[in-house]
Amino acid sequence: MAARAVGLLASLPLCAQRSQVLRPIHRLLSCPRTVAAEIKREEQSSGSVETGSEGRTPKKTFSEVQKERREQAQRTVLIHCPNKISVKKFLKYLSQHGPINNHFFYESFGLYAVVEFCQKESVTSLQNGTRTPSMGTEAAIPFRSRVFNLKTKNPSNPTSEQSRVQCSIHAPPSSKKLLELLCYAESIDDQLNTLLKELQLTEENTKLRYLTCSLIEDIAAAYFLDCTVRPFGSSVNSFGKLGCDLDMFLDLDEIGKFSANKTSGNFLMEFQVKNVPSERIATQKILSVIGECLDHFGPGCVGVQKILNARCPLVRFSHQASGFQCDLTTNNRIALKSSELLYIYGALDSRVRALVFSIRCWARAHSLTSSIPGSWITNFSLTMMVIFFLQRRSPPILPTLDSLKTLADAEDKCVIEGHNCTFVRDLNKIKPSGNTETLELLLKEFFEYFGNFAFNKNSINIRQGREQNKPESSPLHIQNPFETSLNISKNVSQSQLQKFVDLARESAWILNQEDKDRPSSSRSQPWGLAALLLPSVVNSASLAKRVRKKPASERIKSLLESIKSSGPENATSTNGKRTVSTQA
Ligand code: GTP
Ligand code: MG
Repeated sequence: MAARAVGLLASLPLCAQRSQVLRPIHRLLSCPRTVAAEIKREEQSSGSVETGSEGRTPKKTFSEVQKERREQAQRTVLIHCPNKISVKKFLKYLSQHGPINNHFFYESFGLYAVVEFCQKESVTSLQNGTRTPSMGTEAAIPFRSRVFNLKTKNPSNPTSEQSRVQCSIHAPPSSKKLLELLCYAESIDDQLNTLLKELQLTEENTKLRYLTCSLIEDIAAAYFLDCTVRPFGSSVNSFGKLGCDLDMFLDLDEIGKFSANKTSGNFLMEFQVKNVPSERIATQKILSVIGECLDHFGPGCVGVQKILNARCPLVRFSHQASGFQCDLTTNNRIALKSSELLYIYGALDSRVRALVFSIRCWARAHSLTSSIPGSWITNFSLTMMVIFFLQRRSPPILPTLDSLKTLADAEDKCVIEGHNCTFVRDLNKIKPSGNTETLELLLKEFFEYFGNFAFNKNSINIRQGREQNKPESSPLHIQNPFETSLNISKNVSQSQLQKFVDLARESAWILNQEDKDRPSSSRSQPWGLAALLLPSVVNSASLAKRVRKKPASERIKSLLESIKSSGPENATSTNGKRTVSTQA
C-alpha cells in the first residue's frame, strides 16, 4: 500500500537534504520549555524510535510516545502557502495567535507549512480570524478545519524577502541514488545502517502522520464526540519507510470511559442508542458514515473508497495535503496492539530495524511484495520472519512473546475479544541480549535459514520462538501472535513461497561469494547489499531443483556452477560483477 510520494525538492544535494534538520527560524517566537525538548529531539536520529540513547536514559513506552505526539498534533495546523513567501513575515503573522513551537515546510500539490503552536488555544484563535472563501459560481461547504489557505494581498508584486523556502523531504531516495550510496559504504553493516537511515520515517514525516490522524479525528468527532483517531502499522511501529501508507484506527471506546463510573444513588443514566445485529454491522455503518463525511467535507480527502465487505472493513482515501494514502478502520484494536509489540521489538536492539528494512527492501526489489493485495508475502509477515529468526539465534537477540508476557505486571494485562494480548510494555524491564553478531552475518544467516526452512511442515511462531508443526496446509504458516488460531500469511501461494526460497538461497550464495571477493577497487560496482537488490540472474526454477536437499557447501558449489553455465547473456556485465540497475 504505497503512498503517493510527496514532492521532492530536487535542487539540494541528496546528502544535504537527508541530514538537514530544518530548525525553525524564529526561536524567539517559540515557547522556551518546549524548545529545549525540541532541540533534544532533533539531536536524536530522525525517524528512529524515541527511546533515548541505548541502555542509559529510560526508554519511552509506546503509549507515552503516542500520547505526546497526539497532543503535539492537536496544537498544529496545516497551511497551503504561495510558492514564494517571506518565512519571517509568515511566522510573525501567525504568532499574533500565540507563540509557535515548531514549523516546517514541504511540497505536495504546492507548498505546505506545518505549524505547531505552543498552546491549543492559538489554533482556535487562528480559526476565529479565518474567513470561509466565496467561491464564485461554485458553493463552499463551510467546514472549519485546521487546514488553511494562505493568500498574499499583492501576489503580482512580490517583495525581496519572498523567496523559495527550504522544504523537508518526505519521499525516499531513488533506487539509483540508494544503490550508489550503498556502493560507497564501508562494510555490509554500514550498508544496512545506511539503508535504514535513508528510508526510515523522518521526524517531520512522523509529525505529519500524527497531524493527518488528528485532522481526520476532527471530522469523525462531528459524529462521535470524544472519539480518537490513532495511527497504527508501520507509521508507528518503527518499521515505516518513507512513502508507506497511513493506517488509522477510529477508536470509539474512549467515548464510554468518561461517564462509565458516574453513578449516584439508585440511578444509572444510559444513552439511548440504536442496536444492530452484530459488531461487524456496527463497524460497517460507522465507517460508511465517516466515509461519506470525508468525501463531502474533508478538505483534501479524495478518492474515498468504502471497502466494507473486507475481513477488516475499511475506508481508503488519499489525503492530498499530506500526500498519504490512508486506510481508516475501526474495531481493530488487536492491530494496534501488534504495532505496540513490533515497536518494542524494534527498540530492543539496534540491529532489528536495520535487518527488517533491508529484508523488506530486498523483497520489494525482487517483486516478492507488492502494493496491491494478492498471493504475495506482506511486509508484516516479513517482519515476523525476521523477529522469529532473531529469536532463534544463539544467544537469542530477541525474546519470545511468551517471555515478554512473563515480564508483564498487572497494569500490562490486556485481553481483546477473548485474546490474551498481555506483554510487558516498559522497555526498561527487558534485559538486553548478549549476542554480538554483526549485521553482515545476520543477513547471510537469515537467507540461509529461510532458504532451507521446512515450510512444508513447520510454522513460524514468535510467541514461542520455535518451529512448530503446521496446523493447516497453507504453503506458508506464520501464526498470528495474538489470534493464535489464525495464519497471517494464508494468502501466500506455493509459487510465491518458492520464489522467496529461491531468492533467499541465491542471496546467501552471493554473500558467501563476497566473503572471498571483498569490494573491488571500483566502488561503483554493486557489492554486498547493493548486489542483492539487483534483478536475479539465476533461473529460479532450475536453481531450486539443483540446490534442494544438498548440504550448504555442496549447494554453494553447484550454485556457482549453475551461474557459470548460465552464460554471460544472463549477467549484465562481464568480470562476474553486475551493473547498477535503477529498478530496485
Ligand atoms: P506497510 O507495508 O509499510 O504498510 O506495513 P504495515 O505493517 O503498516 O502493513 P499494513 O499496512 O498491511 O497493515 C497495517 C497493520 O495491520 C500491520 O502493521 C499489522 O498490525 C496489521 N496487519 C496487517 N496484516 C495483517 C494480517 O494478516 N493479520 C493481522 N492480524 N494483522 C495484520
Ligand atoms: Mg501500513
